[in-house]
Amino acid sequence: ADEPLVLGIETSCDETGVGIVRGHTLLADAVASSVDDHARYGGVVPEIASRAHLEAMVPTIERALARAGVRARDLDAVAVTAGPGLAGALLVGVSAAKAYAYALGKPLYGVNHLASHVCVDQLEHGPLPQPVMALLVSGGHSSLLLSPDITSDVRPLGATIDDAAGEAFDKVARVLGLGFPGGPVIDRLAREGDRDAVRFPRGLTGPRDAPYDFSFSGLKTAVARWVETRRAAGEDVPVADVAASFQEAVTDVLTRKAVRACREQGVDHLMIGGGVAANSRLRAMAEERCAAAGITLRVPRPGLCTDNGAMVAALGAEMVARGRAPSALGLPADSSLPV
Ligand code: KG4
Ligand code: ZN
Repeated sequence: ADEPLVLGIETSCDETGVGIVRGHTLLADAVASSVDDHARYGGVVPEIASRAHLEAMVPTIERALARAGVRARDLDAVAVTAGPGLAGALLVGVSAAKAYAYALGKPLYGVNHLASHVCVDQLEHGPLPQPVMALLVSGGHSSLLLSPDITSDVRPLGATIDDAAGEAFDKVARVLGLGFPGGPVIDRLAREGDRDAVRFPRGLTGPRDAPYDFSFSGLKTAVARWVETRRAAGEDVPVADVAASFQEAVTDVLTRKAVRACREQGVDHLMIGGGVAANSRLRAMAEERCAAAGITLRVPRPGLCTDNGAMVAALGAEMVARGRAPSALGLPADSSLPV
């Protein structure tokens, strides 16, 4: 096998992820999460995340190597998320990657977090089509990206102008008293609710609105107001119905804009990634609307949609395979790294 054997490190948020791939084949994916440490704050606390990365980093690398049955000296390269993300959290991964690359005498590849969310799909569905349209929806980002080449050319078409899609799920879950993170709970509850119970607003879908940008803060506020009004009147809040109706508004906007972007840009493959891509309603609606529009949909399994090290390794391997230049050992962590 002359496909590159690459170790990938991801620490942009609260997941310490280490993945090992050979070309498009996933060999190991070890993740340590500090999500429980953040739960009582209702969101990720950067300092807690950095500290947790520091403690988990080396054990997680060793676990991934052991699971893959790979010796560190046999690696062809070490890849790491250079940004965007939380500065302190990124720094832990970047420092670890530099140390391993330097000690092992292997090339270092700093990669973009958003591009690696897209590239991970190669581990599930084989080589990415070129170009590919990607809808990235997570707690930190909601973007539409058009990529003719995932290693060198990723064009942001639009993004959220306020809250990320996952953030909206988390905030609405908080309003409904459902805990953090909110996405999975709302997804589960919504199955028992009526998605047509309340018609919540679809942000930025007017004829004069930016076609590829998103806005979810108005929706979040609308849900909060609706719930408050009921509570103030002493009425019960139909939590499952609200969850289902809110989820319907988010997924309606996301899929509508993604399909429109494909149509207008002449792209016939849509990839969806990020934690919110685990959402069952989003997956079903995207499947329906893509099929109707003649677009091939690619969504990795949920475990590869949320932050992980395998996605970093996947992009690193692609960069090695395409002969891209490695990063210098002075590679900085850049919290606002553009794609
Ligand atoms: O990609 P990810 O693990 O981390 C970030 O980069 O943010 O995404 C986490 C986000 C959280 O906001 C979480 O509520 C959301 O993804 N999420 C979901 C689901 N599973 C996770 N949102 C909707 N439905 C889900 N099933
Ligand atoms: Zn992410």
